[in-house]
Amino acid sequence: MRLSPREILLCPVCGAAVDHRPDSLICSGGHRFDAARQGYFNLLTGRGTRFEADSAGMVEAREEFLAAGYYGPLRDALAAAAVRLAPQSRTVVDAGAGTGYYLRAVADCFPDAFPVALDISKFALRRAARRLPEGVSLVWDVWKPLPLQDRSVDVLLNVFAPRNPAEFARVLKPDGLLLVVTPQPGHLAELRKQAVLLQVPGGKDDDVKRSLAASLTEVERTRLEYAVDLPPAAVKRAILMGPAARHYDPGQLDAVVERLDGHQRVSAAFTVQAFVRASPVHA
Ligand SMILES: C[S@@+](CC[C@H](N)C(=O)[O-])C[C@H]1O[C@@H](n2cnc3c(N)ncnc32)[C@H](O)[C@@H]1O
Ligand SMILES: [Zn+2]
Repeated sequence: MRLSPREILLCPVCGAAVDHRPDSLICSGGHRFDAARQGYFNLLTGRGTRFEADSAGMVEAREEFLAAGYYGPLRDALAAAAVRLAPQSRTVVDAGAGTGYYLRAVADCFPDAFPVALDISKFALRRAARRLPEGVSLVWDVWKPLPLQDRSVDVLLNVFAPRNPAEFARVLKPDGLLLVVTPQPGHLAELRKQAVLLQVPGGKDDDVKRSLAASLTEVERTRLEYAVDLPPAAVKRAILMGPAARHYDPGQLDAVVERLDGHQRVSAAFTVQAFVRASPVHA
């Protein structure tokens, strides 16, 4: 049977359990968050964060790029890892879920999954809410305490998004699984050579491991590498969906893409890392 949000969510104001009514989330202390017309809930009250949410344009580019299937192998690898390493999962959360593309695929592997998408961009969550009607999509800042109960999450995804190690460890069940995806330096390297994308520094996977080491242990590290043929429109989307988008105005970007001369054969290179709770230290 699917869990109810009452067993998973926490009120971000007072920490009480939260009930999911059709158009609102209400905690037992009376705090109420109404659904936006597009179905997501904005739990962020008060001051915004210093981190930049993905804009409407970035989200649209990402949605179209992902819909063309270029990162399908990554999506499938995440789903396979979740099934292999956490086969009985019911609560599946994505921290920095974007449009919910990966979360949808992982939730589909488990018959009773309750998906929770967390992201700071309401534009991304409009899409996630449509994609995950059986779950909840919450505007939230992953740098803040997560609106999730202690030890409530079976699978936590974190794909090209910020991490909060202490909170990730707090919300994972004792046998819960965290899957982290980072790009390798070779990722989209052909576009980087032409100076149209920002460089990916090496050693991101080791940084991830180090940052989580206090409470989570790496149990698997998989490198996934393949080539994709990107038509000019997809090259443009690959640029527009990432942080490099902030460095171009639209005219400049068109000029860059025109220079590229047709399809580009480009490397996709990701690292998928799996973490579980560190075993308790025995005296
Ligand atoms: C590169 S995108 C990846 C999105 C998604 N995981 C995917 O791969 O399609 C990074 C995402 O992290 C979100 N984000 C950035 N800072 C955040 C924060 N502090 N809290 C929650 N989400 C954040 C952005 O809005 C964006 O959707
Ligand atoms: Zn409350």
